[in-house]
Amino acid sequence: MPSPQLPESLAQRAQNPIDLRRVLVDDPGRAARLQVSAAGLTLDLATQRVDGPVLQALTAHAEQQGLIEARRSLFAGARVNVTEDRAAAHMALRAPRDAGFTVDGAEVSGDVHAVLDAMTVFAEAVRSGTWRGHTGEVITDVVNIGIGGSDLGPAMATRALTPYHDGPRCHFVSNVDGAHIADTLRGLDAKTTLVIVASKTFTTIETMTNARTARAWMQDHGGDPAAQFAALSTADDKTAEFGIDPAQVFGFEDWVGGRYSVWGPIGLSLMIAIGPKAFDSFLRGAQEMDRHFCAADPAENMPILLALVGIWHNQICGHATRAVLPYDQRLEMLPDYLQQLEMESNGKGVQMDGSDSPRHTGPVVWGAAGTNGQHAFYQLIHQGTRVIPCEFLVAAKGHEPDLQHHHDLLIANCLAQSEALMRGRSLKEARAIMHDAGLSGDELERQARHRVFPGNRPSTTLAYETLDPFTLGQIIALYEHRVFVEGVILGINSFDQWGVELGKELAKSLQPLVEGEVSAEGKDGSTAGLIGYIHQHRG
Ligand code: F6P
Repeated sequence: MPSPQLPESLAQRAQNPIDLRRVLVDDPGRAARLQVSAAGLTLDLATQRVDGPVLQALTAHAEQQGLIEARRSLFAGARVNVTEDRAAAHMALRAPRDAGFTVDGAEVSGDVHAVLDAMTVFAEAVRSGTWRGHTGEVITDVVNIGIGGSDLGPAMATRALTPYHDGPRCHFVSNVDGAHIADTLRGLDAKTTLVIVASKTFTTIETMTNARTARAWMQDHGGDPAAQFAALSTADDKTAEFGIDPAQVFGFEDWVGGRYSVWGPIGLSLMIAIGPKAFDSFLRGAQEMDRHFCAADPAENMPILLALVGIWHNQICGHATRAVLPYDQRLEMLPDYLQQLEMESNGKGVQMDGSDSPRHTGPVVWGAAGTNGQHAFYQLIHQGTRVIPCEFLVAAKGHEPDLQHHHDLLIANCLAQSEALMRGRSLKEARAIMHDAGLSGDELERQARHRVFPGNRPSTTLAYETLDPFTLGQIIALYEHRVFVEGVILGINSFDQWGVELGKELAKSLQPLVEGEVSAEGKDGSTAGLIGYIHQHRG
């Protein structure tokens, strides 16, 4: 459906933004109204320059765009991914055994749980040491080879849940740069390593190149790839051709998109790291968010609210980027994960019906863990000329009880950042500081101006009790649904990714030129010049 214009009243409101400093003082009920809690999470939107009427207008627009029907279709397993003519039914991977989840009219929960059971048996066997390498030694290390959704989900979640690791060490190789696999395999014992090749298509050039390198390494170092390789894929024929024992292939269907796949076989490395029980809790957290997304009123619905605020920022206020700032070191990979989830999903220029999008679509998503970012790019967030909406994440409780003072400091920093963005510092306040520092006259004025913070800058804070598997499941599903809602409002298909294809095709055709087998003659001057430079300098 072509996207109608966003309501003019919203554009007008954006011209007269709310003054956060004033409303947070003048309106004591604001914080309570704009803090939403569900299943142990609290989402604070009080420091966003929105109010009830803005959110209501955005909600009405989302509903006019067919949000309710789109959500129903998504959960009914309909073919919502229209350009690939398939469903986007990743919620089926985390639905309970008796959910009866249907995709395209057929019940899939039975098959999903059969694979989950097989993963559980395999993961338990690897963890307990009953499943061993071909020389009979216990597996000490697992190397997941995959890229994009076949890497970022399990890598991010495995890192996030470090305190729950009680299995073999897990490593992740994604980049085709030989440095990645070389650095990962160095120091590993091929006889005690399990290699998992994670690729939905089993054709991705980076993954297949790394998989072949790992296979050769294992052969050369006393391991046996026929025994010590597993695969996670939709392509049984290709995993067999590669030589992977079908008993160690965990399959899934094409209605699971790469960036939505951590909940099923692609999560095997995570399951081996934290154990099937904790993995189940991770799935239950996501289920809880699915329930919340389907049942909660828009005014209380976290994914919908996050999406509405996202649309408000990017499409109405023109803030082109969004910073994700977890004050949780173990979520350091969340910004990378969300880059794929959000930018591969909503970075599109064409609407569902093939017409050009009349407005900008998804924002640039970026970020890093706090407090590190404070000492790097926060300068621009606070005093730069662009407004960067920020999303903070913070746990009430850390996993290091004997380091409580660290956690208190972490929380204080997180809250300080949203307060600083909101309050800013006026010229008058800056002058007073300079005066107290002993300055006067022109020097006081000049120095004071550098110390002004515009303030009234928007941020959201998501607070949770502790980063456990359940909570991580909730957080990821929250972002998945937010991306979906934004996509519906923008009238685009959030589930395809045609924009990654051209570069892949060109890389394939350029490889023989780089290898020197084919002349670069006829290529554009820039490409030919760079190939010439590389040939000249690589000896
Ligand atoms: O290049 C993009 C992409 O198709 C992602 O969407 C996907 O997650 C990734 O490549 C890996 O694909 P596969 O799992 O098929 O190797």
